[in-house]
Amino acid sequence: MLSFQVEKTRTIGNNKSNPISVTRVYVLVYFLSIYIYKFFIPLEIVNSVLENQLNIMRRLSEERTKLVFEKLTKYIGNNVKLLVDRPDGIYCFREKKDRVYYVSEKILNLAATIAPDSLMSFGTCFGKFTKSGKFRLHITALHYLAPYAQHKIWLKPSAEQQFVYGHNITKSGLGRITENTPKYQGVIVLSMNDLPLGFGVAAKSTADCKFADPMAIVCFHQADIGEYIRSEDTLL
Ligand SMILES: *[C@@H]1O[C@H](CO)[C@@H](O)[C@H](O)[C@H]1NC(C)=O
Repeated sequence: MLSFQVEKTRTIGNNKSNPISVTRVYVLVYFLSIYIYKFFIPLEIVNSVLENQLNIMRRLSEERTKLVFEKLTKYIGNNVKLLVDRPDGIYCFREKKDRVYYVSEKILNLAATIAPDSLMSFGTCFGKFTKSGKFRLHITALHYLAPYAQHKIWLKPSAEQQFVYGHNITKSGLGRITENTPKYQGVIVLSMNDLPLGFGVAAKSTADCKFADPMAIVCFHQADIGEYIRSEDTLL
């Protein structure tokens, strides 16, 4: 093919002033096309673009796995490994359209038999990646994380409603807080009778909470069970 093109350009070139440069351009274009199509685009990128278009559930990249586990560790510490290594089977994380699903291998195999466009959801949506690349935990993960929580905040009954409407928690609404909770620790928020209500981030350490002003914020709201109603359309 290459030699044919070279011959051809030579014949054409004979009638023209500079045949060599025309041939050189042909050869250059030929090698450049090989270079661009076979080596220049990493296979990983080609695959991820294809999978996104096909709407397929896929494994998380190493970088995204790290972000998800970092976020989970913030709330349940080393108990994260208990989420994956469960007595009732192997559980894993899969991604579909930036959403991260926590799913048993059994369900995953069943989900794989359904046409990707017909599959709305599988397992439990734990959260999603934002446009800026951060992982945001959804309230749907609460049921799985609450049993492993290491730091908790209990709300007085009078403060529950404020929280499940998406508000931060003030000192006046604080019933109890786990001893030695550091500032900015991820916490599970519960009612006084241990019903999980959501996630938060401690705005003050346990020690600082004791001396805080009644109106001072002690916990920043992250997610709450009111979202099952407020954000019904965007949650899953
Ligand atoms: C909770 O506190 C954070 C940080 O001060 C603030 O950005 C956010 O708007 C507050 N949320 C509500 C609902 O007041």
